[in-house]
Amino acid sequence: MVFTVAIDGPAAAGKGTISRAVAAHFGFAHLDTGLIYRATGRRVLDGDTPEQAARALKPADLEADGLRTPEVAQAASRVAAIPEVRAALVEFQRDFARREGGAVLDGRDIGTVICPNAEVKLFVTASDEVRADRRYRELVEGGHDVTPDGVLADLRARDARDSGREAAPMTAAADALLLDTSDMSIDAAVEAAVAAVAARLAQG
Ligand code: CDP
Repeated sequence: MVFTVAIDGPAAAGKGTISRAVAAHFGFAHLDTGLIYRATGRRVLDGDTPEQAARALKPADLEADGLRTPEVAQAASRVAAIPEVRAALVEFQRDFARREGGAVLDGRDIGTVICPNAEVKLFVTASDEVRADRRYRELVEGGHDVTPDGVLADLRARDARDSGREAAPMTAAADALLLDTSDMSIDAAVEAAVAAVAARLAQG
């Protein structure tokens, strides 16, 4: 069976947690496409040109340590605005999406550009403050030296760049189900996402 779940949304909205839970629930494969851009950004910080970095990317690069730092997040967002970089990464994502057994992809442009025919599309959001608070806690837990205001400013800068760029800007697909997780527990958000996928699977 080929079945694609596209989950998009801004930074730290809960896409990752929801995607992993949906994939585990249905036994689908999961691809965090943000990691692809983070790994590309990492290579650029290490001296590659953005295009070289995107072309040379290997699946093992997604397992590298240190991809979750604020510095790499900003580098990812900068390389992600370059059309040649995005073009070099399309095929890998589409192949993953149409693999046998079902796939969940989360990112910014999955429902709009990578998989416009995905069987299920979700756009996950939350207020800036709630997202910054979640990301701040994650980063502190990971041992990073950050401040709440710094995290909020970083996140807003990245969202502005991601939604303002010309190449595949972050936006909800017209047929995406909107999930605002500002006042939702993560369990409730996962439950809503699982219900949407189950309803679509039941249609055959
Ligand atoms: O985890 P978080 O939501 O903060 O970010 P991410 O999903 O790891 O994505 C990092 C950056 O990669 C984003 O700010 C985007 O600039 C870029 N990205 C993208 O352009 N398209 C995607 N499909 C996924 C990520």
